[in-house]
Amino acid sequence: MPTARLAAALALVAAAALSPAAAQPVAAPPRLQPRGASAELVVDGSPFLVLGGELGNSSGEPGYLERWWPRLKALNLNTVLAPVYWELVEPREGQFDFATVDGLIAGARGHGVRLVLLWFGSWKNSMSCYAPAWVKTDTRRFPRAADASGRGLDILTPFAPANRDADARAFAALMRHLREVDGGRYTVLMVQVENEVGMIPEARDRSAGANAAFDGAVPRELLESVRRHPAALPPALREAWEGRGRPAAGGWAEVFGPGPATEELFTAWHLARYLEAVASAGKAEYSLPMFANAALIRPGYRPGQYPSGGPLPHLAAVWRAAAPSIDFISPDIYFPNFAEWCRLYARPGNPLFVPEARRGVEASVHALYAAAAHDAIGFAPFGIESIGEPAGARLAESYRLLAALAPTLTAHRGRGTMAGLLPEIDPQPQPQEVSLGGYRLRVVYERQVAPSIADGESGGAAPVASPAGGLVVATGPDEFLFAGIGVTATFAVEGSDDRVGLLSVEEGSFEAGAWRHERWLNGDETHQGRHVRLEPGRFGTQRVRVYRHR
Ligand code: DGJ
Repeated sequence: MPTARLAAALALVAAAALSPAAAQPVAAPPRLQPRGASAELVVDGSPFLVLGGELGNSSGEPGYLERWWPRLKALNLNTVLAPVYWELVEPREGQFDFATVDGLIAGARGHGVRLVLLWFGSWKNSMSCYAPAWVKTDTRRFPRAADASGRGLDILTPFAPANRDADARAFAALMRHLREVDGGRYTVLMVQVENEVGMIPEARDRSAGANAAFDGAVPRELLESVRRHPAALPPALREAWEGRGRPAAGGWAEVFGPGPATEELFTAWHLARYLEAVASAGKAEYSLPMFANAALIRPGYRPGQYPSGGPLPHLAAVWRAAAPSIDFISPDIYFPNFAEWCRLYARPGNPLFVPEARRGVEASVHALYAAAAHDAIGFAPFGIESIGEPAGARLAESYRLLAALAPTLTAHRGRGTMAGLLPEIDPQPQPQEVSLGGYRLRVVYERQVAPSIADGESGGAAPVASPAGGLVVATGPDEFLFAGIGVTATFAVEGSDDRVGLLSVEEGSFEAGAWRHERWLNGDETHQGRHVRLEPGRFGTQRVRVYRHR
């Protein structure tokens, strides 16, 4: 079909799907609700686990996306994270065109999935490439950040109220539109404000506005928050601030000392204030949960080499103080130390949501780990429509399993009765120790499907690589639920020499909330009662009962 006809057909579908008659109102918009030490995302009155995938940057136009829906459905996603481009929704100042947004909503509804929208406004990976032409070309009205030599960058400066206000107006218009077309239906669950903000290639902007702010006084609210929670400052800054006698007023270098750490703090504060202005303008129109995502720090990199001042763990308290309308900050985890980054972000008051992750085979086990180890509210590999094989098949299996387990996982949230299973490094040199339900589990991982003795050990068949990881839930006294792939666990009693035996190991699955038995595992499958094993090469779910003896 020619592009114009296709676009027209899609617009009709979008209009029909968004008409009031199609809406089936439900009670309240999606919201974050505290749950124990963590929080949950409540959608249509129930806890919701985002089994997501984030589209590639240029895949958010509905006409283009049409071809990818079957693939997204086959991956068992329940949510698509999709960009919304400022340059397309406000091509001329004050004239909004939400056709792309409506098309995304119609597509998502038509395919029975939800959306998390990503506002590509002033900044996308530090740069301002998604600003509309009328912003980009008017550098007098919409000033740029500058480097140390004073040269302007393709980055809107956060120190110009005109930049902030233009972005906030557009974002408010987007949120108003979402309320009008989706309030009561809630296809859109959450909104990410900007994308991977942070200053590059230096720790701070050197434009005239930035220099004036840096030479001026540290904002009172920041000093107040530092005074109340000094431990929340990065250690070097805290030492500098204490060494200077905990000043209650003064310029940035005066209060925190000169250097890149102070420049990064300065950048974080001002970026977060800017995002606060944008997010609060949006929430005033339609209050959905909002978050900011971060590009993480490559080992050895300095602020400016990585995006300085972004929503990073060492700056979490600054972001919280400066941007209360940002409900949480999120990591985009492309590095292999997935568990470590999860731990840094899953904090009281900051639920873990991973909006971007590497889309390799490990994504399948990362999703399970994040949900169980950190009560994550969701997970999404990046560039999901381009996921290859076998990563796609693995993710589809893992999401199917997670969808079935979601009621169990949400019931155990915030109770300390779940553990995520994931090698900290690959290969994990020692068995991993996990304390759960009064037992100490020793866990080892198998990342290869090896031929069994029954196939002839020396058959020469090459082992097949497989992801390894999963989760375990203490479902009751002496009872556990395991799910995952390539995991072997043995049990000991916490604080006692008693031995632990297996009473029963049952393989099965949850269907519509009910357990469906497949088979009892014993003999070779449990190494004659010695261990629980989720074999490599396929995801499985097992219910296990243990007993103690001497
Ligand atoms: C992180 C960004 O947030 C994404 O939009 C995309 O640019 C990926 N990096 C590419 O790896």
